[in-house]
Amino acid sequence: MIRKIPWWQKGVIYQIYPRSFADASGDGTGDLRGVSSRLDYLEWLGVDAIWLSPFYRSPMADFGYDVSDHCDVDPVFGTLPDFDEMLEGANRRGIKVIIDFVPNHTSDEHPWFVESRSSQTNPRRDWYIWREPEEAGGLNNWESIFGGGSAWEWDEKTKQYYLHTFDVKQPDLNWRNPEVREAMYDVMRFWLDRGVDGFRLDALSFLIKDERFRDNPLDPKWRPVDPPWARQRRDYSDDRPEVLDIVREMRAVTDSYEGERALIGELYLPLKRLMTYYGTELEGIHLPLNFGLVLLQEWRPDTLEPLVERYEAALPQGGWPNWVLGNHDNPRIASRIGPARSRMAQMLLLTLRGAPTCYYGDEIGMTDVKVPPELVRDPQGIRSPGYGRDPERSPMQWSADSNAGFCPKGVEPWLPVADDHEEVNVEAQKGDPSSMLTLFRCLAYLRRKLPALSIGSYRPLDTGSSSVLAYLREYEGNQVLVALNFSAAQRVLNLTDTGKRGEVLCSTLPPRTGDVTLNKIELRSEEGIVVSLASGT
Ligand code: NOJ
Repeated sequence: MIRKIPWWQKGVIYQIYPRSFADASGDGTGDLRGVSSRLDYLEWLGVDAIWLSPFYRSPMADFGYDVSDHCDVDPVFGTLPDFDEMLEGANRRGIKVIIDFVPNHTSDEHPWFVESRSSQTNPRRDWYIWREPEEAGGLNNWESIFGGGSAWEWDEKTKQYYLHTFDVKQPDLNWRNPEVREAMYDVMRFWLDRGVDGFRLDALSFLIKDERFRDNPLDPKWRPVDPPWARQRRDYSDDRPEVLDIVREMRAVTDSYEGERALIGELYLPLKRLMTYYGTELEGIHLPLNFGLVLLQEWRPDTLEPLVERYEAALPQGGWPNWVLGNHDNPRIASRIGPARSRMAQMLLLTLRGAPTCYYGDEIGMTDVKVPPELVRDPQGIRSPGYGRDPERSPMQWSADSNAGFCPKGVEPWLPVADDHEEVNVEAQKGDPSSMLTLFRCLAYLRRKLPALSIGSYRPLDTGSSSVLAYLREYEGNQVLVALNFSAAQRVLNLTDTGKRGEVLCSTLPPRTGDVTLNKIELRSEEGIVVSLASGT
């Protein structure tokens, strides 16, 4: 009997960056009706949930991560009825919908901040973080993550500084103020009432700052070639212990609703700290996002296996794992490790233990797009040249048409479309048995069909080869073997201790099906395979 598993454990989560997915209105920017128009595709692809990056009203200083009205849709993306239609259409197809919730900051154009900055005595003054230079300890040394220096901005009218961890147009909310907490929980309730299945919590660890605003120490490991925002260790501006109280409160809000509503947190933290967000009694968030694969520099079995093992070992009892391969803040996987290996990475993602999060376009092998300096849109790219995130946000490649079918011909898309869109697109890959898209679908299908892959245990295998990563997934006696050859040469494995024979279900280099004998598994150069092991052999 298969135990009742919540969707956020067994399902495949697919991230949509709404500006770049599909443009139904024909203005060059993606929108919610565009997402609705592609729900059939998402169902066909085999994803269980979509996570939408922000679509709220926003001046777009950080493309929606600067919210000026949490309870409305920005006209660029459509209307609230468009959202409801999209949600209903997704749910009708069995697809859950998670939305981005941006709690750390608002836009400086949000009415709360407009009030807050109007005078030092305004009732909402304390909703944000204001300081005077001569306050005890003086203004501290905290730096903005987007680069460009101090995280404090002088307000000439009221003669104080406000804190902005990110862009100057993204003032940080003061989560020590109970009114702020309640107002933000009301926002969560607004969307939960509308029927969303959960939230991806943006920049979650930043919500609480050191009470004494102590200076952050410089990171002695930082070198001038490293990103400017890594110069300081954020000991006092990030991941303060009190943030876990907020996490519990957010969980209480979602738990007060029926259904399996999930909280997924964006947390770039060391493993030990990451795990605390599950909560000591699992009363924290459901999935603290695990960026191990995103941050991994060298993709080799001897880096991957310890990465997985360390993560598995660090998980608290009952804490559900998750894996991320890419997102809108990091170079795409196919650009990081190359096209052949990115097929193996997709196989790894969809066969490891834990909820997989996929980034739109990775299923067809999209790569980063070169954005010339005059077209850079990302505030991080503007403040810290060379570190922009536009390249991984280019329009989804639906077809070989002009603008890749993302927006109508003759319309200028908000970011350039990739040059390779004539070959790399959904239309071209749909019917091609050897395409990346077909591989993705096959893996998503297997994950749904085989409990060993979605909820089974994980055991690394000794392959006797430093270039092959292999592991066993098992559920109630059903075993699935995954073997990934990272070498440019063919490898032959002897894995007799796992049984005598098995059947290849999927290969990163099709066509390949049929039986294998486990004392002689041949793997071609950069090939990964999924093998169902015959029971009792
Ligand atoms: C993390 C988001 O993923 C990123 O895109 C955004 O710029 C920052 N948080 C600020 O909201």
